[in-house]
Amino acid sequence: MTDAQVTVHTQAVIDRIEPEVHSHFSEHLGRCVYDGVWRSENDDEDGYRDDVVSLLEDLEMPVLRWPGGCFADDYHWEDGVGPVEDRPRRRNLFWAQDTDEVPEESNEFGTDEFLRLCERLDTEPYLAANVGSGDPQEAADWVEYCNYEGDTELADRRRENGHEDGYGVKYWGIGNENWGCGGRMSPEQYAREYRRFATYVGSMDNLMLEDDLELIACGFEDHEWNHRFMEEVGNSAWGVHFPLDHLTLHHYYGRTMSVVDSETDEDDYEQMLVEALEMNHHIERIAAAVNAVATTDDIGIIIDEWGTWHTEAVSENGLEQPGTALDALSAAAMLDVFNHHADVMTMSNIAQTVNVLQCLVETDGDDAWARPTYRVFDLYAPHKGNDAVTTSVDAPERDVDDEELPLVGASASLDDDGTFVTLTNLDVRESRTVEVSLEGLDADAADVEAEVLFADNELDVEVTADNAEEFARQELDVSVEEGSLVADLAPGAVAGISVR
Ligand code: AHR
Repeated sequence: MTDAQVTVHTQAVIDRIEPEVHSHFSEHLGRCVYDGVWRSENDDEDGYRDDVVSLLEDLEMPVLRWPGGCFADDYHWEDGVGPVEDRPRRRNLFWAQDTDEVPEESNEFGTDEFLRLCERLDTEPYLAANVGSGDPQEAADWVEYCNYEGDTELADRRRENGHEDGYGVKYWGIGNENWGCGGRMSPEQYAREYRRFATYVGSMDNLMLEDDLELIACGFEDHEWNHRFMEEVGNSAWGVHFPLDHLTLHHYYGRTMSVVDSETDEDDYEQMLVEALEMNHHIERIAAAVNAVATTDDIGIIIDEWGTWHTEAVSENGLEQPGTALDALSAAAMLDVFNHHADVMTMSNIAQTVNVLQCLVETDGDDAWARPTYRVFDLYAPHKGNDAVTTSVDAPERDVDDEELPLVGASASLDDDGTFVTLTNLDVRESRTVEVSLEGLDADAADVEAEVLFADNELDVEVTADNAEEFARQELDVSVEEGSLVADLAPGAVAGISVR
């Protein structure tokens, strides 16, 4: 008996899934940079942590956002370039980010260290400029330092610091959370600041030799704020032709009880998942704010911070929290949501890459390992660059505080050779048999390969160096019955099925 039916509408293409939707975010916060990617007992001759870098290389991250977060709202990039011994030690208003666990920044890891890391990872950098305590000149100078190939003092400084050619940084964030740590601005105030910054940062476009710059504005989970921002930002002589390529928001959700010790794990997890799935609403509402003034064809939606933020993660411990398969399951649900909204989504950046919040890689002394969330990104990788198609799911739901939690999730995409379907049994209490029909395709004649995560794992145990390998993917048996695919999914299982 099937518990859930998934129909893949292979003719109903939503849009291309931009590979950038599988992107990441690293802030100078806790052990994300220092002891995360940079300087530890395991660093290589350039200062990077080999074990972490090699895990990240395998992940093929399209974009990495840096240096914050709120950290960026009080960061001055010139502190972090040039000879390390001359770089000033500074306090940053927002986070403790040094290995000594004091709220000071050594500036040992700066622009060149970050951009060289991106080159090594073959990842596009996304730099967040300081609007909160900085000024437009500082932001424009940063673009010039990074990208300009002519004969100026800033370009020469980059050359002296070891990089002859411009780095070609394409993505420029004009601030971070400017409704909060980025200056506590009203939407109108931020819109005016945005226009001022974008005028000078955007004028650097003609200094670039190759790609155009893409400018990114901060939005908010309060959608009235986004509407007011969009109205005001277009309210200039340039109107909506103003340089604005993407509008972002941040969406975190978490468990209210101790992740590993709680006795009511299922309830707490289900409440978290309901909150996580509000992502659908946020994407639709922020897209509506853009469409009220311009169009999402011209201004894409980025969720440039998202993921779990549990009670365990507090400023004092550098926002560290245990990693479990339940976190990973929520990430799978979010990647499905992004696929469903492929028509507006241009990027997403899970927070944060190493050691902080819903990190993908964790370190402890000499050890570095992949968390279950890493494995979800890896399993979902075939979606990157495919065309998303509509899926409909007929499955049981559970009432959670008057909200209906869907117990099975799915998304699907097409490439030239076939279809890739991801399925999640979001129910951590019961197994489900799921039947998948692909419109117009007789599964009897197809090559089907399927893999699954978490089918045999305890979902709520902390994943450490000792048990991380137990969370690796396994083959999944998929039968073909009357032209449809049928798979049994254990509680919390996440499956990837390729049909050729
Ligand atoms: O990711 C941690 C913090 O969350 C970031 O610094 C900030 O932008 C957000 O509030």
